[in-house]
Amino acid sequence: MTAESEVRRRIQERGKITFAEFMEVALYWPQGGYYAGREPIGAHGDYYTSPAVHPAFGALLAVQLFQMWRVMERPSPFTVLEPGAGNGLLCRDICSHAALLPDGFSDALKYICLDRRSAGTIESGLPGANRVLANGIPFRGLQGCVLSNECLDAFPVHQVVMAAGGLREVYVGLAGERLVEVTGKLSDPRLAGRLEGLGIILADGQTAEVNLALDAWSRDTAAALDRGFVLTIDYGRTARDLYDFELRPRGTLVTYHQHTQTDAPLTRIGSQDVTAQVDFTSAARAGEMAGLESLGLVSQREFLSNLHLDRLRDRLRENNLPPRQMQANRAGMLDLVRPDGLGGFKVLAQGKNVAGPALWGLERSPGNDAEIASLIYNLPVPTLTRHHLSLPDGRDLGAEVEFEAFWPFSDTSPTGGT
Ligand SMILES: C[S@@+](CC[C@H](N)C(=O)[O-])C[C@H]1O[C@@H](n2cnc3c(N)ncnc32)[C@H](O)[C@@H]1O
Repeated sequence: MTAESEVRRRIQERGKITFAEFMEVALYWPQGGYYAGREPIGAHGDYYTSPAVHPAFGALLAVQLFQMWRVMERPSPFTVLEPGAGNGLLCRDICSHAALLPDGFSDALKYICLDRRSAGTIESGLPGANRVLANGIPFRGLQGCVLSNECLDAFPVHQVVMAAGGLREVYVGLAGERLVEVTGKLSDPRLAGRLEGLGIILADGQTAEVNLALDAWSRDTAAALDRGFVLTIDYGRTARDLYDFELRPRGTLVTYHQHTQTDAPLTRIGSQDVTAQVDFTSAARAGEMAGLESLGLVSQREFLSNLHLDRLRDRLRENNLPPRQMQANRAGMLDLVRPDGLGGFKVLAQGKNVAGPALWGLERSPGNDAEIASLIYNLPVPTLTRHHLSLPDGRDLGAEVEFEAFWPFSDTSPTGGT
């Protein structure tokens, strides 16, 4: 039973299904769902994410995690739980750079990759790194950080539309053999409740997505942590911006196939990504309801700049790289902070039972600058390995670069050559 035949079977049985149910099947149905058994990231996939673009992303996250560990008075273990870890590349980059940070940080670091999809194998080869398959967060009593990159945008979303008679929901139905959007009554009162709580009134004809899964996710995350931080990195906006009728009258749902934005979710079921921008206002509020304090929301550009990405970029010349590799590394680092690309992503920081100075990634201060600079000067400059792709290289090299799963890790050196 393919993802598409499962969608059709459910519609035939019940007349129509919510868009969220459609998206759940299209992405995660074990036989032929988009995430079942395929690697969507990289030159041969459908899109790039920050870990694949440059290892400086993982290196600077390791520096941020190091500060969290110190703020928490160096618990051991300090657990980093990464939901939506995918192929494990971010784990690889963080762990290999953590090993170069002082005070025995990497001895305390315990890294858990969590993903709901079964693609990839299980052994990591890195001490302290584990992989868990689960949908939800089956942990309790953690001290550390729940860190995710582009996980929340892959949660199935409901779609709503403002019609003459009030708010309606978008469902998927059948017109003859054709899959079509149909509208109907709201399947869940929390849909209207979410918008009301945000003070958002959609304009006539406006379509929008509502990510109800954020609530259970925040409860699970808060319940898993005894003490520590949550760092959520994704594309998205505050609610006012996200639901702005002038800017986004049709919402933010998009589909990706082979690096092309296609925006036709009811076609190519199982072979294209379906994703929607994250409502960071609701993510922060859901966390607050669950006992997580909101510590700050900044762009990825601000976050990585506060952690001195520019110094890492300046230091690239120490590596004596051939000109083409030098250019690819500079381009990769710049792509991480490009304002109209990955740099426009958001970083939401939340905390539970933690007090202390602001996180380094959230704000710059002369005191922080000196400390971060001394850490960064002692790190080898991360450079692209065969596991990464710079955006220009990925497009040009085509078949030269084979993107593969990272388990088991064969090369734990952060400066391993391409
Ligand atoms: C867009 S990919 C990002 C992968 C990786 N974090 C990266 O940055 O390259 C989203 C990942 O989140 C996973 N995912 C989605 N919902 C999840 C959940 N509730 N729990 C764990 N993993 C989830 C998907 O299976 C997929 O591997």
